[in-house]
Amino acid sequence: MLGRTRKEAGNREVVEQRLNDVSDQLDRAIADLRHYVLADSHIGPHEAPPTLARALEELARRWKLTHTAEFQLQADPETGAGLPPHAVADILMIAQEAVSNSLRHSKARNISIWLRTVNGRLRLEIADDGVGFKPQTSERPGHGLANMRQRATGLGGQFRLDSKASGTTVVLMEIPL
Ligand SMILES: Nc1ncnc2c1ncn2[C@@H]1O[C@H](COP(=O)(O)OP(=O)(O)OP(=O)(O)O)[C@@H](O)[C@H]1O
Ligand SMILES: [Mg+2]
Repeated sequence: MLGRTRKEAGNREVVEQRLNDVSDQLDRAIADLRHYVLADSHIGPHEAPPTLARALEELARRWKLTHTAEFQLQADPETGAGLPPHAVADILMIAQEAVSNSLRHSKARNISIWLRTVNGRLRLEIADDGVGFKPQTSERPGHGLANMRQRATGLGGQFRLDSKASGTTVVLMEIPL
């Protein structure tokens, strides 16, 4: 009986430790995102907030450090330069979610990210050469796809997902500038 109680107490410590670790990781992830997303909250009054392209470069640098997939980023420094911070935040979160989906679900070896201006519109495209899936045919778990769409339409833009069950997924968002 005493042994069991000790074991349970030990288990509880392990679980508590694990929860603390997860909570720390989450805090760090949120702080990282906030660092780039809420640019004006941490940057000194005389520093310019990072442009969208600069923030994407920083995110890509981190993804490269922590994942084995190859990342290609082509970000036009002028694209979205005049956008308000909340729009920059939404676009970064779309990029973050699309890449996170590629990393978690696709087994892709290559992930490409393009940011450019096309016909006066900001276009962000994220493509992977992974396993692909059929977006329309089944109910999907999770909120990521719906959130991306909502963010893009919230900015007056469009969101498109093109995925083949045979492989490759392309996420495309466009917003008027
Ligand atoms: N790039 C991708 N390659 C392969 N499958 C994908 C890709 N993106 C999404 N999916 C599939 O679509 C599903 C729904 O994606 P969604 O982002 O909405 O949810 P999730 O990633 O499972 O969970 P959450 O985003 O809420 O953490 C995924 O579970 C996965 O099956
Ligand atoms: Mg997701």
